[in-house]
Amino acid sequence: MLQDTTGTNWQAERIDTTSKWYDLFQKGVELGTWDVEKLFDEVGFEEDREIWASLEPGERKQIRYLLSGFLDGEFAVGEDASHHLQRIVGAPCFDDNEEMEMYMTMFTLTEHKHTQFLDVYMHEVMGEQDAFAELNPKRGGARIPIVQATGLGDVFDRQGQLTARAAHSQDPVDIAEALTVYHMIVEGLLARGGFYSINKLSQNAPLSLLNHGFKLISTDEGRHITHGVEALNELIEKERSGRREFQGVSQAIIDVLYENVGSIADFGYMFTGAVDDPLEISFDDLLLRVGHLVDGQFNEALDLEVNHHKIIGIVADRHQECLETDIDEEVRKYQEQYNRKRGAAADGGRDDD
Ligand SMILES: [Fe+2]
Ligand SMILES: [Fe+2]
Repeated sequence: MLQDTTGTNWQAERIDTTSKWYDLFQKGVELGTWDVEKLFDEVGFEEDREIWASLEPGERKQIRYLLSGFLDGEFAVGEDASHHLQRIVGAPCFDDNEEMEMYMTMFTLTEHKHTQFLDVYMHEVMGEQDAFAELNPKRGGARIPIVQATGLGDVFDRQGQLTARAAHSQDPVDIAEALTVYHMIVEGLLARGGFYSINKLSQNAPLSLLNHGFKLISTDEGRHITHGVEALNELIEKERSGRREFQGVSQAIIDVLYENVGSIADFGYMFTGAVDDPLEISFDDLLLRVGHLVDGQFNEALDLEVNHHKIIGIVADRHQECLETDIDEEVRKYQEQYNRKRGAAADGGRDDD
């Protein structure tokens, strides 16, 4: 599916320069090494700070919630890429694919840069509200209350569990499950749905540094998703060729999709109608976009049979459930919980209050 676009005819002894993963690695080197700090220097924060100050409180809340999902999401994918994906691509089912392992280094680097961009941007432009970074050092801090309150945090937990299990077992079916949550759902549906929403909101709140950063992030994510599709296709092909240890791969991909796709509703709920949608992003538009993405990723790119109407139904039902909860109340609950933990941490963890 991938074209060789590096344009070189060079060959090597150990590395296969005709490999599609070599091509992705090289593209990552060319396009993925944009420098976050340089971008901050070149574009500057001033214009975004001015626009931010001019927004209504409801508009700010909508943007803050959307970016909160991204910040916790980028952090989670960065962690799981560092700890687990690198081991997964070294699994025997990928036949010692050296170029895939090379590409994974670029992949991990870009995920950490995405966290860097968002964390600094939110601090510098939006202030440090909702940062509970000191609470859980292993994951770099407690999640932002809105992410935990809506249930979006659960899909990141699931991603962590499945990638850890696959890295450990190296079993092709476990790997298919892990890569489906990571590349197809979190990157393919959540992040892409988020990019669509960032684009839409920029019509009413033109934050130029934010848009600049997100253009670069979405280009990087395009390569990540290509890698995910190619890796899953390889597992599916081996299953279809009748190899015993690959049996169950396709069904696992479909099952994991149905089990976790409701997280799109958790994410969309954070920054659409439940916060009055002053910047006009609209949950229904997001849902329509996700429907197209599901069709493209699962039916076309992976040649599976996924009923995208059923998927839309799952997401719409979950959204309805979300709407029946009071978002502000849930957020307050998590803020209080985190603040209690902060107090406990400050007095040495004594539990006598
Ligand atoms: Fe990312
Ligand atoms: Fe990514």
